[in-house]
Amino acid sequence: MRKKILAANWKMNLSYADAQAWLTEFKSGNGGMHEVEFRLYAPTLYLHDLAKSEVLSVGAQNVHPSVSGAFTGEVSIPQLTSVGASSVLIGHSERRLYFHETNAFLKDKVNACCQQDFSFIFCCGESLETRQSGEHLDFIKGQLEAAILHLDKAYLPLLTIAYEPIWAIGTGQTADTTQINEVHAYIRQLLEKQFGEEGSHVSILYGGSVTALNAQSIFACQDVDGGLIGGASLNAHTFIELAHCFK
Ligand code: 13P
Repeated sequence: MRKKILAANWKMNLSYADAQAWLTEFKSGNGGMHEVEFRLYAPTLYLHDLAKSEVLSVGAQNVHPSVSGAFTGEVSIPQLTSVGASSVLIGHSERRLYFHETNAFLKDKVNACCQQDFSFIFCCGESLETRQSGEHLDFIKGQLEAAILHLDKAYLPLLTIAYEPIWAIGTGQTADTTQINEVHAYIRQLLEKQFGEEGSHVSILYGGSVTALNAQSIFACQDVDGGLIGGASLNAHTFIELAHCFK
């Protein structure tokens, strides 16, 4: 059985007071949802307090592959671990696009996580242009080949994959279930081809304009094991509502 994961990516949103209020609301509303693993990818400076609450598992939106050193403004895995964070997002399209993170740099981050026993969600997904050219599957394969498929399968328990088509992020335009099924099945096939049986245990999340209105049909797709949620995660009540959309 693969883990069902519901992950909030707040991106650069919410004040410290908002974050505290979110946590209080989440605490009072998530009772009895034991079959779903909740994760919260919050701004780095809130992680310590959020993790201390022990209400849900907390992770960072970014990490540097080095353990320490002269990298002004960056944060390392040992630093994240020291404040109670237990995972990180790698390869989000916003990091690739706005911060020019290359496949080679993402591979360094992936390897750093593996070496330091730190869980990560590896994000992949195509632009609208790539989808319209019909080359989205090859594109996604390229992203996985560049940073994931080289791994020793002993590290797979640290890995979760998120398929996030760029054209669906924050646009209100969700991929339809045929498109989601196609890509998730393809990713699953790549994982199983490379890693065998162990590849079938990796959770694959969908992200991109997931709301309480579409979550039920998305989460019902065979190879969808949960969601990476942006806008709809900023309100704790809405976020919890999504967990009720798993069958
Ligand atoms: P939205 O849910 O706002 O489309 O964001 C998705 C996302 O980028 C999560 O990482």
